[in-house]
Amino acid sequence: MTFESLKPQIEKIVNDKNNALELNEKLHQICKLLEANVPHYNWVGFYFKNGTKEELKLGPYVGAPTDHTIIPFGKGICGQVALSNQNFVVPDVTAQDNYIACSITVKAEIVIPIFVNGKNIGQIDIDSNTPDPFTQEDERFLEFVCEKVAGILS
Ligand code: SME
Repeated sequence: MTFESLKPQIEKIVNDKNNALELNEKLHQICKLLEANVPHYNWVGFYFKNGTKEELKLGPYVGAPTDHTIIPFGKGICGQVALSNQNFVVPDVTAQDNYIACSITVKAEIVIPIFVNGKNIGQIDIDSNTPDPFTQEDERFLEFVCEKVAGILS
């Protein structure tokens, strides 16, 4: 697997017209594609701003079910990204004070915001069971994924 080889598959999912996939089905397919093809991606999910509330709501995901279906802005890695508008790469989750644990197997996390018309409307969140697995390649690839997803949200 290379990130470059996954990009056309992401585009195929977002551009799908034949099957008229619903938005959430497309997002779920993206989660499945990433979790199945990137060995250090062990939980892959989307969170979105919950209407006008200052909180995130869990969207489609693949991996262990989580209790954290609602995350207030500012709480945890996800809630911090909702406010900072910046990528957040966490090589070691035990080193974070403001972290919401979903599973004891998770060692690292990456969260990349999704912008629609310049507004941070959600994020892709990935947990890894491998310590310190994320590089700038992950960030650039996931920014690509978020841009493609933004294109079907607007
Ligand atoms: N660890 C996240 C919470 C979401 S779970 O990873 C699915 C956080 O600290 O925001």
